[in-house]
Amino acid sequence: MEIFDTTTFIPPFALDIDLETGAMPDATNHLVRNASAMKGHYADSAAFDALVANGDPLHYEVFEKPVPEEYGHLMYCISKLQPGKVGDEFFMTKGHYHTVVQTGEIYLALAGEGFMLMKTQDGQFHYERMQRGRMVYVPPYWAHRSVNTGSEPLISFCVYPGDGGHNYGDIETEGFPGRVFEKNGEIVIE
Ligand code: F6R
Ligand code: ZN
Repeated sequence: MEIFDTTTFIPPFALDIDLETGAMPDATNHLVRNASAMKGHYADSAAFDALVANGDPLHYEVFEKPVPEEYGHLMYCISKLQPGKVGDEFFMTKGHYHTVVQTGEIYLALAGEGFMLMKTQDGQFHYERMQRGRMVYVPPYWAHRSVNTGSEPLISFCVYPGDGGHNYGDIETEGFPGRVFEKNGEIVIE
């Protein structure tokens, strides 16, 4: 067997994921972002400041049992985004490109409902519905942000190349070309 020196050899393993709740008991990494981590990302900054002042609630979590962050390995996670709104805008993740921009990602929605917003560095914009049993393919070069438009957590399982990394790049300053609001009881993307 040839071992490529850029890719660490590890033994196979398996773990359990609760498909209803997203619980991954073997996870050892737990990323937690409260509302305050989203400063500058929502359209209504007064509503955002009020939310943070009013208890800075949990926004989203990511659970992982990491593998080597190297070409050849596949990183995977459970992402759990809470329901809620900042003003009229639904809770969302920060969103990112991959540092190795030519790496894609697969998201499988397990529970809840929402959207995956995607954009390219040259301004293309695309979105896909997320709901239980629906897979979204995020191709290389597309930044991605999930949005929860439901009343329960939006839970998804994601898989992406181990060397992909996260690049928040222009999202910190420019956001995405579309935002998801509730207006007159309707979900609108504008
Ligand atoms: C990994 C990936 C997810 C997100 C997670 C949090 O490539 O897309 O694991 O990292 O949903 O989102 P961000 O990183 O945008 O805060
Ligand atoms: Zn990603």
